[in-house]
Amino acid sequence: MKLWGGRFTGQTNELVAKYNSSISFDSRFWREDIKGSMAHALMLGNQGIISREDAEKIHKGLTDIYSDLESGKLTIDPEAEDIHSFVESVLTERIGDAGKKLHTGRSRNDQVALDMRLYAKASAKEVSKNLKKLLNTILKIMKENKETYMPGFTHLQKAQPVTLAHHLGAYFEMFARDCGRLKDAVARMNYSPLGSGALAGTTYPLDREMTAHMLDFSGPTENSMDGVSDRDYLIELLSDFSLIMMHLSRFSEEIIIWNTNEYRFIEIDDSYSTGSSIMPQKKNPDIAELVRGKTGRVYGSLMTLLTVLKGLPLAYNKDLQEDKEAFFDALDTVTDSIILFEGMLATIRFNKDVMAQSAKNGFTNATDAADYLVTHGVPFRDAHGIIGRLVLYCIDKKCALDDLTVDEFKQFSPAFEEDIYDAISLKTCVEKRNTIGAPGTQAVERMIQHCEEVINS
Ligand code: ARG
Repeated sequence: MKLWGGRFTGQTNELVAKYNSSISFDSRFWREDIKGSMAHALMLGNQGIISREDAEKIHKGLTDIYSDLESGKLTIDPEAEDIHSFVESVLTERIGDAGKKLHTGRSRNDQVALDMRLYAKASAKEVSKNLKKLLNTILKIMKENKETYMPGFTHLQKAQPVTLAHHLGAYFEMFARDCGRLKDAVARMNYSPLGSGALAGTTYPLDREMTAHMLDFSGPTENSMDGVSDRDYLIELLSDFSLIMMHLSRFSEEIIIWNTNEYRFIEIDDSYSTGSSIMPQKKNPDIAELVRGKTGRVYGSLMTLLTVLKGLPLAYNKDLQEDKEAFFDALDTVTDSIILFEGMLATIRFNKDVMAQSAKNGFTNATDAADYLVTHGVPFRDAHGIIGRLVLYCIDKKCALDDLTVDEFKQFSPAFEEDIYDAISLKTCVEKRNTIGAPGTQAVERMIQHCEEVINS
């Protein structure tokens, strides 16, 4: 049964009905649809727009539909036009004429705007919860690896030594910002469009404050035309999801690199890797690769919605129905990606010796060697040149700076003394860097303290 059959005499073309239908994806927010209708019905009764008796009947009918859908006693009819029509028709079937009064002072335009907001708000909170779990895992690894030395890179070339705690702390910051962004978006979207009507409000004395508060919003939206046609909050969330995926993808790329035969910094657990059908030796980092690959898909959803909205005149247009599949797909992708990435990260084994050895082999202490000369009176620019020549010498000799004798050092500058070895040891290079945000122990302790605060906030 169509909600809008009255004006029509002819039948809808079959393909039109199929193309127009949204039940296959909007049934996903049946809970939100029913909760919104419950609030609307109670408010109608409260305002005397319908009798309290009818309001109670509707509320009871909706409660039953809710629990029957939950238990599986009632299943959603795939032939219905959308979830709104489905719920209303089942209600009327069950409770009779009172059911027909539910839609008083309401349009599917404000109804769908409400459902989507409720669903998106809950989803954003769920994504945040998953991110918090990932933050916890990162922090745990940080705490266990304050002295796990590794090379830090620029241009993917070994640069200066850092620790694993420091390196992962960078990702902690990224995901913490992502949580903050979701929180901001939720605060901004937390206004109820219910009562906007089709676009111009309604002549009934609706209490929009009441429904807004019943549904846990900060208040009602201020303009009915904006209320039914605003999807900015979805674009904001999709942009937040895109950033999360971008961060996961960067991290994945590093995991893929660290997992190569050449690096061997890590070993991904068997449960999070797959093999090859032909090459028996293979153990592939598929999850990291898939996260990296699926990032484009989430960006795609963001682009979809930006494009849907860009030429849309006020107020509601059916184009807006396209918000759902794009949002749901991105939501599912980001949710699965965070959960799987967290599981993979939590079970990775770090080859600490290999990491430290790699930091040693790559002249990552060259800056510190130059700084040593500076503290012994050599101007930095000269020191830079001297160490550059020393590095060339070592490359030729196939050794590290630490392997040279004091005499060899002295051939390049008389400023070198016996204490050069201590000054350029991996431990010193890291430990001496204690400015805020640096990899030294004190700085990392401070970082960890800050991470704890973020998690508990
Ligand atoms: N399925 C529609 C949507 O998702 C519901 C709103 C229908 N409104 C209308 N005027 N046809 O946007």
